[in-house]
Amino acid sequence: MSQLRVPDGPPGTWIGGNLAEFRADRLDFLTRCARDYGDMVWIRLFLRRVYLAFHPDLIEEVLVTQSKHFIKHFALRLNPVLLGNGLLTSEGDFWLRQRRLIQPVFNRSRIMSYGPPMVDAAQRMLAGWKAGERRDIHAEMMHVTLAIAAKTLFNTEVDGDAEGVAAAIEVMQDNFLERFNSLWPLPLWIPTPANLRAKWAAQALDDILFRIIRQRRAENVDKGDLLSLLLNARDEDDGKGMNDTQVRDEAMTLFLAGHETTALVLSWAWYLMAQHPDAEKRLWAELDEVLGDRSPTVDDWPKLKFTEMIALESMRLYPPAYVVGREATVDCEIGGYAVPAGTTILMPEWVVQRDPRFYDEPDKFKPERWGEERMKSLPKFAYFPFGGGPRVCIGQQFAMMELVLILATIAQKFRFRMQPGTTVTPLPTFTLRPIPGIPGVIEPR
Ligand code: HEM
Repeated sequence: MSQLRVPDGPPGTWIGGNLAEFRADRLDFLTRCARDYGDMVWIRLFLRRVYLAFHPDLIEEVLVTQSKHFIKHFALRLNPVLLGNGLLTSEGDFWLRQRRLIQPVFNRSRIMSYGPPMVDAAQRMLAGWKAGERRDIHAEMMHVTLAIAAKTLFNTEVDGDAEGVAAAIEVMQDNFLERFNSLWPLPLWIPTPANLRAKWAAQALDDILFRIIRQRRAENVDKGDLLSLLLNARDEDDGKGMNDTQVRDEAMTLFLAGHETTALVLSWAWYLMAQHPDAEKRLWAELDEVLGDRSPTVDDWPKLKFTEMIALESMRLYPPAYVVGREATVDCEIGGYAVPAGTTILMPEWVVQRDPRFYDEPDKFKPERWGEERMKSLPKFAYFPFGGGPRVCIGQQFAMMELVLILATIAQKFRFRMQPGTTVTPLPTFTLRPIPGIPGVIEPR
């Protein structure tokens, strides 16, 4: 390893390293690191050695070519109670077995059957909207994707268990954030008020989920939802299914990984469109041409090209997972840099997807760029809102269909205007949340 390079990076303080700057304004700090120190940067977050990889080729090495040298990074291990040993967090042979078991749940023909409940949920939401009303569009999008997750995953309505699940998740996510931001996160078994709240929420969550799972096993009826598919999934080699705890962990993971991420893309899309009337007009023209007055169906998805471009461009500018992370399990070499075992590598989508080397006018919302010929030669990991390699998002197609169908259903009838004087800022928590929401006025199209 001696002739390998060691990345340069910003000087930090003696104890915390770069932790204070990282915590103060994460997005700005990451952007400055790329600008000042290049494609691979070394920082220290307290005791943790962290590299920041900003070039698509380096990212491809980590996520694809050398993926066997890496596991998920430390942040994902901070909340074992919430995610359990589900797909997002599990590793090694166990993860591979689970991924093979669950993959068929997301094949294209299966997910197409979830189109109607998606459109239905959006229409039910619109039935409660009145022109001229003030609403926080982010709260609305969270609600509609929650309803869709509840229906497609558990075949339940939002007013029932799903709200309880969502409330418990919120408490646990807050606990996770506190621990993520803390210099020395206290183990969950220490009874701090925050840990007690998280424990209570975890118990409430388990009560609901295990009840639903047991009911389902007892009924033994395929309800056509993702939970039925999880319960019926069998390993090709040994024919074995999952036990209740595994089903709980996977169901929880899908619920959590799927609903907020999708809501965020939709929220940011409305925020961006409210400021770009040209894009809005082009969207309406497409909806008029493809749909006329009828509601969208899954068959329209391939034809709603500009609608999809809006989703792609929103995810470029505001990727819900604004950074993907890994930890090296062995000493290895990435792009000529020495990566000692134990190093965390963070790959910030937020920075790479706004890099002027790959995008013209990178900070501008230009959905039409996705139709340009030159975008076909974009390096693969210059755009990776769903990650990549073996751990790529399993729900990518599900999410893309949901984004297109919901955008189309809403934009057919309504437009959204920002409340004058409101400033919305992306807050990098575990995901990229709009603060203080996206308040505005609903207007008829
Ligand atoms: C726009 C919406 C979505 C975005 C931006 C998104 C983003 C991501 C990203 C970046 C990863 C990779 C994380 C990593 O490599 O560390 C991931 C993994 C994952 N996503 Fe998504 N996701 C979305 C929607 C969904 C949906 C709808 C589901 C399920 C219903 C889902 C389930 C998962 C799961 C289970 C994993 C872990 C896969 C594995 O490690 O094998 N996601 N997602």
